[in-house]
Amino acid sequence: MAHAHTDTKIVVTTPTGHVGSRVVQLLLQAGVRPTLLLRDPDKLDPHTRERVDLVQGDQEEADSVLRATRGADRLFWVDPPTPEEDPVAGHARLGANAARAVRENGIAHTVFLSSVGAEKRHGAGEIDGLARTEQALDATGAHVLHLRCGYFFTNLAMESDSLREGVLSTPWPLDQAMPWVDPRDIGEVAAARLLAGNWSGRQVQAVHGPEDLSFSRVAQILSRALGLRVRAERISDEQMRAALGSVGLSTGQIEGLVGMSAGLREDFTPEQERSVLTTTPTTLAGWAHAHLRPVL
Ligand SMILES: NC(=O)c1ccc[n+]([C@@H]2O[C@H](COP(=O)([O-])OP(=O)(O)OC[C@H]3O[C@@H](n4cnc5c(N)ncnc54)[C@H](OP(=O)(O)O)[C@@H]3O)[C@@H](O)[C@H]2O)c1
Repeated sequence: MAHAHTDTKIVVTTPTGHVGSRVVQLLLQAGVRPTLLLRDPDKLDPHTRERVDLVQGDQEEADSVLRATRGADRLFWVDPPTPEEDPVAGHARLGANAARAVRENGIAHTVFLSSVGAEKRHGAGEIDGLARTEQALDATGAHVLHLRCGYFFTNLAMESDSLREGVLSTPWPLDQAMPWVDPRDIGEVAAARLLAGNWSGRQVQAVHGPEDLSFSRVAQILSRALGLRVRAERISDEQMRAALGSVGLSTGQIEGLVGMSAGLREDFTPEQERSVLTTTPTTLAGWAHAHLRPVL
């Protein structure tokens, strides 16, 4: 039987990442043979590798992006972490590579992994860089969907040392609720849109997880899921700068991170409201029990 997706070329970036890996799995389960752009094919498990087309390359290099997307109909684009001293400039360059590929290769549909806060355009630290990528893609005039995502559960894995000590520190007001989301659920929304391809124009869709959570509530949930007492502790931006500096980050990178919370914790109302379209199923309790408890 002929397959509906046989003629559609779908290219996935960051296929080894939290979100991209889920996109790849769902495309395979849908009967698609995606094209993956990645730096190191050895990072893919052999069963995935035999079911995909690979382009080895770096998203920092425009030629790699152009090569991977030649003849592409649909693109899942993620700005990978940028090593630049100025992360906003780094994202702008990555976004320019994506936009050039969309233009030169005539890619009809692009799904971009963006963030809550990108709508501010300026004043949200590194998220301003995702806004630059949104704008570069918008300027192509192609069909573009920006997924404005909440705070990833997986960020907690970077706090494992402090969580082991029972402390969850944050520059956010402890009772301010915001959307928290499992990146795998974002991958599901992205894959659904890549497969559907029945949408047009410039679209924005938020991905908010099952509920908004404050850091105080997160600490309660983690205490129960991890079987240890965790308390949330608010730190100042200065304390955060010092902590990031002690692990070797440059000034620009530190400001990119500090700016995300500083820019979104006051006088910010997200453009997208929570709705049936933005709500995804995985709870923090379930995720923490399955993924965080084993690594603590
Ligand atoms: N964390 C949050 O709360 C949050 C919220 C909203 C949006 N976001 C956005 O989500 C994105 C990160 O998604 P994620 O968590 O799924 O990613 P991730 O798990 O951190 O993985 C990063 C991926 O980028 C790849 N990569 C790194 N540098 C690359 C390069 N120069 N060229 C090609 N590939 C490269 C890595 O591949 P290798 O296997 O080669 O290392 C890996 O697949 C970022 O754009 C971030 O701004 C994050």
